Amino acid sequence: MRYHIESFHHRPTGTLSHILVCAHSKQCAIIDPCYDFDIFSGRIGTDSADKLVRYVQGNNLECQWILETHAHADHLTSAQWIKKQVGGKIAIGEGIQKVQLHFREVFGLSDSFPTDGRQFDYLFKDQEEFVLGELSIKVIATPGHTNDSVSYQVEDSVFVGDTVFAPHRGSARCDFPGGDAATLYQSIQKIFDIGESTHLYLCHDYPGENEPPVICVTVADQIESNVQISRYVSLEEYVKKRTQRDSGLAIPKLLYPSIQVNINAGHLPEPNNDGRQYLKIPIKF
Ligand SMILES: [Fe+2]
Repeated sequence: MRYHIESFHHRPTGTLSHILVCAHSKQCAIIDPCYDFDIFSGRIGTDSADKLVRYVQGNNLECQWILETHAHADHLTSAQWIKKQVGGKIAIGEGIQKVQLHFREVFGLSDSFPTDGRQFDYLFKDQEEFVLGELSIKVIATPGHTNDSVSYQVEDSVFVGDTVFAPHRGSARCDFPGGDAATLYQSIQKIFDIGESTHLYLCHDYPGENEPPVICVTVADQIESNVQISRYVSLEEYVKKRTQRDSGLAIPKLLYPSIQVNINAGHLPEPNNDGRQYLKIPIKF
């Protein structure tokens, strides 16, 4: 095998982080790493991020990239922490600029918060290819859940971010700013068109306490049995189902903490005059 994928499941947020390794060069990319964050105490932990770091160090890997599939709304990225431990360039899709522009206003950030994505080390364009050792990775823009969503394809495997979930769970929500169900439908078709034997590495799963997460499924599994977007579901039907489902969903518990860190490439807020760091929650009546 020319590459290996090691996956890690973060039970509190259901997030799946992956490490893609080029078997020949031992270079690796870390995809969607997260912090442990307790919203009640404000405490940030690195136990989960440390597992990834230990895997990289324990296998003598050289971290080249830390890849985000999008600015997540359910967990804080630990990209900066990981970079400090093992190196690597932090990258995301160029659609992050639109997400930054929107949330700069939501969080009342000053004009000094750049919205050109410069907080990241690199912004990918749709269809861009880059190298990891002897592997070539293709970036596929897959908007719909968010403006900045991308998938990363390496040979017959794709890290799909929040496009599709496990077949029994359906697809990602489309009611965030910049989200659009018809756009997500088209993005998912792009992924399906890669071929039925393609392996899709998921970004989330929410198993029961003693159940393992679903980490990877094939395109064939999805088009046969995905509850929201199998081959039997038309665009119109999907949009209707998705919109209905989204109207009943709660705001993610970590939306505000996550977004303000994640649009800033994982940098935590600058300390106040008192030397402490704070996250903001906009309030409204
Ligand atoms: Fe997401």
